[in-house]
Amino acid sequence: MAYTITVNGKQRTVDVDAETPLLWVLRDELDLKGTKFGCGMALCGACTVHLNGVPIRACSTPIAAVGSSAITTIEGVDQSEVGRKVKAAWLTLDVMQCGYCQSGQVMAATALLARNPRPSDADIDQAMSGNLCRCATYVRIRAAIKLAAGLPTADTREV
Ligand code: FES
Ligand code: FES
Repeated sequence: MAYTITVNGKQRTVDVDAETPLLWVLRDELDLKGTKFGCGMALCGACTVHLNGVPIRACSTPIAAVGSSAITTIEGVDQSEVGRKVKAAWLTLDVMQCGYCQSGQVMAATALLARNPRPSDADIDQAMSGNLCRCATYVRIRAAIKLAAGLPTADTREV
């Protein structure tokens, strides 16, 4: 069945089954490979994208559920000022290690700062708790979120 969805501000039409997860539409049909497959069960956050600005798990969102909602992926995150700040902070603090989880982390962080520009540590913990990192970059992730928000950050040189 044909579905027309809006991804990073552009309308795209794909012909897939209704149950096809958005993740595979993005990666295999639209060649947007920045969104990653981790667990496939909504448990790790590697596949996080935005649906109308809200972070969702693309691995467990069927294409039929997307409708006219606006999808933003890591390839389009810098279309917003918040997304640009988050990306810049990530690069400044060299957050990535293997990088596999990081597009999901950036998407979750961007959604957090878009709705809460000055998050507390508890706010950050809550917003980011579903995004796992096997390389344990959590300290740098938190510091980058604070840097993007213009909040004081701890010294991260040793982490
Ligand atoms: S791949 Fe979607 S949450 Fe893990
Ligand atoms: S940077 Fe390797 S899994 Fe997060």
